[in-house]
Amino acid sequence: MNLTLEDGMEFVKLLKSSLNRENEIVCGICPPFVFLRDICRVLESSGIFVAAQNIHSDKNGAYTGEVSALMVKEIGCTHVLIGHSERRHLFGETDAFINAKIKAALSVNLKPILCVGEKLNEREEGKTEYVIKNQLKEDLRGINANQAKELVIAYEPVWAIGTGKTALPEQANEVHLFIRTFLTAEYGKDIANSLYIQYGGSVKPENAGELMAQPAIDGLLVGGASIKLESFLKIIEAASSN
Ligand code: PGA
Repeated sequence: MNLTLEDGMEFVKLLKSSLNRENEIVCGICPPFVFLRDICRVLESSGIFVAAQNIHSDKNGAYTGEVSALMVKEIGCTHVLIGHSERRHLFGETDAFINAKIKAALSVNLKPILCVGEKLNEREEGKTEYVIKNQLKEDLRGINANQAKELVIAYEPVWAIGTGKTALPEQANEVHLFIRTFLTAEYGKDIANSLYIQYGGSVKPENAGELMAQPAIDGLLVGGASIKLESFLKIIEAASSN
């Protein structure tokens, strides 16, 4: 919930003209619902994808204030964030709800970016893998191998989001490996290896390179540091050279 429409439009126009297509990097942005249509128009054919930050799980109905998967698909989004920690913890979203949202997204060919992550006390109690496994198991219940090909997974330790505390690159890599192992067991090696697993949580220009240098980290989900174009471009640059 950042930037005005005017600032957001200027941001994407500059982003579009600054990105070097030879970087071979997949880049997307996730604006608030009300800006999606305008931003999708600016970024059409740019190679930069646009994702919504949330959807409801039902196709349509009496859900005042909610937005469906088809609505965001219709205006040009290709992806949607599902299960971001702020949705889980500030708005009480359960794994069952998140699972239904993933199915809703897939039903209209919207690619879900599923966010998972442990809280600080869970990490301190040595429960990180238990928590991540449970989230993946519940959130992906009933998702078959064919559907799983469309997923992006984001590992976002809750204690690192917006706090300035980044997971050590090795700590993040360990969890990414654990996620890949889970996906391999569920969907087989080929699918598991083809999926992007991104890291998110206080990513900034100073740590983007070392995070991306980890073998199991395929990408970054950037919050605060993506709001200023200059720092976002530096992160893209660091990611491209890894
Ligand atoms: P942050 O946010 O980069 O500001 O920690 C990450 C996120 O919201 O996913």
